[in-house]
Amino acid sequence: MISEKMEKAFNEQINAEFYSEYLYLSMQSYFESLNLKGFVNWMTVQVQEERAHAMGMFDYVHSRGGKVELEAIAKPETHWNSPLEVFEHVLKHEELVTSKINALMDVADEVKDRAALTFLNWYVKEQVEEEDNVGNVLATLKLIGDDKKALLMLDKDLATRTFVAPVIG
Ligand code: FEO
Repeated sequence: MISEKMEKAFNEQINAEFYSEYLYLSMQSYFESLNLKGFVNWMTVQVQEERAHAMGMFDYVHSRGGKVELEAIAKPETHWNSPLEVFEHVLKHEELVTSKINALMDVADEVKDRAALTFLNWYVKEQVEEEDNVGNVLATLKLIGDDKKALLMLDKDLATRTFVAPVIG
């Protein structure tokens, strides 16, 4: 059975994951407005991943006899000035998520919830991958600068990203 403290911490993280989904959906809409379909695709996959992250925890809490209480999802930002600005925001956001996952691990440590620690290991590794993926796109965007042709080449590249449903835990 999950402890009350652990359950509350998971509920907060579930909300954070759904917020991530919402934020990336907002970024997807921004890229739609620029007609950059590869970037749209990258964000579509990101949105699906965030939903999977949230649902992984949703299922886990229930499997431990807990209850998920959904809270309101905050309004995400809706305006950016460039693809570079978007990806700077994505990296900052993923770094924030990493710190939240670490804080969740701290709670699991505190209440000596070994099962939660094992489960959360998947998310720790996932965050390393998330930050790496985003960092790579960001580095390329910095190299591209104002070169429109190079931006379209990156757009083509991002169009190849596909969603693979993760096996969490
Ligand atoms: Fe759910 Fe992008 O971390």
